[in-house]
Amino acid sequence: MQLTYLGHSCFLLETAGKKLIFDPFIRNNELAKDKVSFEELEADYILISHGHEDHTADLIDLAKQTGATVVCSWEIHAWLNQKGITKTHPMNIGGKWQFDFGTVHMVFAAHSSSLPDGSYAGVAAGFIIESNGKKIYYAGDTALTSDMQLIPTKHKLDYALLPIGDNFTMDYKDACTAARMIQCKQIIAMHFDTFGFIQVNHEEALAHFKQHEIALTIPQITETIQL
Ligand code: NI
Ligand code: MN
Repeated sequence: MQLTYLGHSCFLLETAGKKLIFDPFIRNNELAKDKVSFEELEADYILISHGHEDHTADLIDLAKQTGATVVCSWEIHAWLNQKGITKTHPMNIGGKWQFDFGTVHMVFAAHSSSLPDGSYAGVAAGFIIESNGKKIYYAGDTALTSDMQLIPTKHKLDYALLPIGDNFTMDYKDACTAARMIQCKQIIAMHFDTFGFIQVNHEEALAHFKQHEIALTIPQITETIQL
């Protein structure tokens, strides 16, 4: 199983012979657009945490280009269907579904959600992916929330992808608290540095996690991590 960072909150997860892309935002991401070749991306599934532009800007074109199944909220599914993207799998918070690569659990995220054209997108979500004997939590955009305490009662997480950029989501200190709440020792950072509001001091973030004995990876765009 391997994970490649495509910038902002966009990742490619390769597992069980399938390719999953989370929250595609590449061609309008100043940090990623010259490093990631959008036209060469392949996917079997696209997972969308919420409707905001920095998570969906490339969704429709990527869905057309790849023919992937889009896993998202009921409301984003209905919006996509209206736009002619019909290979969708609608979910909602608290539910799970078994796909050919493993099981996806849709979990709560403390955040807002609307689509770039103003359409209602349901509530914001995160995902827990259970595949190949491992469990990975993709938190989406979220604040630190006590709901996270429920996660370890059901899931023994191997890795968690958490936002650290502050302003729109939790900062790295809250992400470190979240890591302890979800009882996960391997954290991969997302939602940082892309634009002015979410610049992160990497040294300070790494030192803070080290102090709490939790491994933090702040990935470079195009970096691949073996899980
Ligand atoms: Ni957002
Ligand atoms: Mn965002």
